[in-house]
Amino acid sequence: MDDQQRKAQLKKTFDTVAEGYGSRGMEFFHNAAAHLPRVLKLQGHEHLLDVATGTGIAATAIALHLPHGKVTGIDLSEGMLAQARARAQSLGLANIELHAMDMQDIGFDNARFDAANCSFGLFFLPDMTSLLQHIASRVKPGGQVVACSFTQDSFAPNVDLFLERIQRYGIAPPPLTWKNICTEEQFHTLYASAGLSDVETQRHDVGYFLNDAEAWWRVIWYGGFRGLVAQLSETQLAQFKQEHLAEISALRTGQGVPLNVGALFASGRVA
Ligand SMILES: C[S@@+](CC[C@H](N)C(=O)[O-])C[C@H]1O[C@@H](n2cnc3c(N)ncnc32)[C@H](O)[C@@H]1O
Repeated sequence: MDDQQRKAQLKKTFDTVAEGYGSRGMEFFHNAAAHLPRVLKLQGHEHLLDVATGTGIAATAIALHLPHGKVTGIDLSEGMLAQARARAQSLGLANIELHAMDMQDIGFDNARFDAANCSFGLFFLPDMTSLLQHIASRVKPGGQVVACSFTQDSFAPNVDLFLERIQRYGIAPPPLTWKNICTEEQFHTLYASAGLSDVETQRHDVGYFLNDAEAWWRVIWYGGFRGLVAQLSETQLAQFKQEHLAEISALRTGQGVPLNVGALFASGRVA
């Protein structure tokens, strides 16, 4: 699959899941976004670029802390951006503008943002160094570039059970893209290779207990796995869901079904 085909597939997947993205069970995106104002050390007047803004979970969390500033969000998926617009409107935020744009080809050539953020977006591209350099090229000297990914053990053991079982249905899952950047060491190496200085990393637990196994199914259905389960026939899908949710229910404790998620943040400065 070439670069354009991969991008078209990603856009289609996110257009499909946009409506349910961030729904009940997927609060980890919100929990992660809640850390951003502190990671970005926001003062309240900045103009920030949010790359791969999706449904605007990070962008709105940041915009709420910018009484005199604003956020410009970009994303490939019109479906995700439509949700972002609705989210900004429902929060009464007038300081967000959103654009359909490829993060590998960010416009605003003459604009130099005070800072940039990319939550759960870097790992979609094989060349994360070039991407980070491209994002940094739109930030003023001395400005911060923040990125966030999942920690290595996120979604375990649920995701391992899911991948093991779907293989029994003859589906070969591709490697999990977020595992390309899931440790503090990898972030330090990436930021150094992109020429960013004063690199700091931090990790936060953003997991919780799900009410039931159905909530885990929503993570699959509205998260990155729709493309895989969509390959099953209707009958197979029903059987797969029943078998998989039975093994997820078996993980249940007195508090619910654990969902282990760690968010890893990195920040660096443009020279
Ligand atoms: C996992 S979501 C993260 C959304 C958001 N940052 C958040 O924290 O909830 C990843 C987003 O990256 C976007 N994306 C993937 N490849 C992209 C590209 N080449 N250019 C712009 N956006 C892209 C997808 O459309 C999707 O909305």
